[in-house]
Amino acid sequence: MRYFIGNWKMFGVPKSINILNKINSFYSKDKNRKKYRVIITPPYTLIQTYAKYFKKKNIYIGSQNCYQKDQFSSNTAAVSPYMIRQVGAQYTLVGHSDNRSEGDTDIMLKNKVKFALKNNLRVVFCIGENKKDKKNKKTFGVLKRQLTRVLEKNFNVNNIIVAYEPIWSIGTGKIPTKADLENITFYVKKVLKSIFKNKSPAVLYGGSVDGSNVRMFRDLRGIDGFLVGGASKSSKKFIDIIKNYYR
Ligand code: 13P
Repeated sequence: MRYFIGNWKMFGVPKSINILNKINSFYSKDKNRKKYRVIITPPYTLIQTYAKYFKKKNIYIGSQNCYQKDQFSSNTAAVSPYMIRQVGAQYTLVGHSDNRSEGDTDIMLKNKVKFALKNNLRVVFCIGENKKDKKNKKTFGVLKRQLTRVLEKNFNVNNIIVAYEPIWSIGTGKIPTKADLENITFYVKKVLKSIFKNKSPAVLYGGSVDGSNVRMFRDLRGIDGFLVGGASKSSKKFIDIIKNYYR
């Protein structure tokens, strides 16, 4: 199974559902549709409407984040995994670099993953090195730390997906070389297998993925799908990614 996840970040109002309608109708007719799943993570404000609308259709709805507590608490503006699940989301991102840079710590992330899983959300756990780490050849160490400090062997591996998103690649048009990405994916899966009794969750790539570079990723071993930012805000660009992947 391949995953094409569109992370809308701070984008979207109710009428943006038109974008998803177009993706949905493409999916319904696509001969390759059994091979992949489309997940969109709109902002919190749209989860309920979209999840209800697409319940019997082909697009899964996820959240971009969740709070590190289970159900209800006295944290102003926080939204818990329980609340997200109750409005119909089936996935949540955890650990996106946007949120790490705004203060998410490993302990917070561990609780987010734990409570998301407890509330039957599938977790897309995001990891990635920054430009300086890359320059100093620290990528492997950084990724290992991000994985081992948060993921625990008793977490349900079947409900976890890992997204490797190098921070220097997000929104910049820069992508890793084939060799680097192959080595990194292999390494990430090795670390994951050491955590989860020799089983690895799916590993996605994210960072400047578009219709023109997706074919390069297709030929790489070990990439199980994509976490797409910018290009997911246009139905055409998002559909082009899927079309070109299977072309
Ligand atoms: P871009 O595809 O815009 O580089 O964003 C990637 C991302 O951060 C998805 O979560």
